[in-house]
Amino acid sequence: MRISVKAPLKAILAGEHAVVYGYPAVAVALDTYVRVTAEPGDDSFRVETELSCEGNVRAEITRDGNVKGFRSESLHEELTYVATAVRKASEEFDAPPSNLRILSEAPPASGLGTSAAVTAAVLLGLAEVSGVNVSREEIRRLVREVELEVQGKASWTDATVVTYGGFVRVSGREFELIEPERNPVLVVAHSQEPSRTGEMVRRVAELRERLDIVDGVMELIGELVDDLEAALRDGDLRTVGELMNANHGLLAALNVSTRALEEIVHVFRSAGALGAKVTGAGGGGCAVALFEREEDAKRAVETLSALGYEAFVTRPSPCGVKTE
Ligand code: MEV
Repeated sequence: MRISVKAPLKAILAGEHAVVYGYPAVAVALDTYVRVTAEPGDDSFRVETELSCEGNVRAEITRDGNVKGFRSESLHEELTYVATAVRKASEEFDAPPSNLRILSEAPPASGLGTSAAVTAAVLLGLAEVSGVNVSREEIRRLVREVELEVQGKASWTDATVVTYGGFVRVSGREFELIEPERNPVLVVAHSQEPSRTGEMVRRVAELRERLDIVDGVMELIGELVDDLEAALRDGDLRTVGELMNANHGLLAALNVSTRALEEIVHVFRSAGALGAKVTGAGGGGCAVALFEREEDAKRAVETLSALGYEAFVTRPSPCGVKTE
């Protein structure tokens, strides 16, 4: 029995970082996926993955989540999500030793929620292998628990959007699916620098300890998320874009932008984007832009590719993690 599962990656349209402190965020699942196949194996969990920048990698994971035989620190970090998901699946579903193959259409540490998508897909794959009927709410809860364990601090954003798909407003553990009046064209560009969520969340927490204005910045982000959500529901993409630009400025104030991300954001705007911003934890990773016209989006991709950035046009995906 071989189970195939896919989970969407995500972009945050507004609200990252502030959402960790209880303010709302709006995120969207992308038509770009992580795919996992799971089948019963011999005596341990064997993982084969192309998640790593080090190419195709094999690992062995024990029931209690230990990764065997790896020396590379960066690789270990990526596999920690998989290992923690394996341990959860052993505890919650009594998952049998299985072979897992993981493929991602985007690089890890890109700010696109690869870790949450991989975690959700591994959990659903192992639930299916175990013959356990798992609800979406259970998957969402487990993904959040894995993120919390690995990162130290995590909002419900990534866990919710990879589980349910579509446009989602998240506030604390509450969420609401948004039906936008019009579907935008989205472009994602990778700065070619890694974005480490745990580290960036810690850095923002430290800045918040030192500077009184950080709470005010987060409050403003929360306010613009409410306005962005209303504009999205009304199909007012121009206002959505303007608010994304404003959010980018506030993320820069939190010091999570980089020179490469600034360049990408400005290329997007020159190519006619309605709005562009860092997406996810920043410090590297991706920027996302909203376009009205597909031809402008394609032009932005060409310009960014010529500058050495990896960029692609994508669309919102209505589906969350599911078997294929
Ligand atoms: C990560 O995609 C977004 C952050 O807000 C962290 C979180 O929400 O857990 C930076």
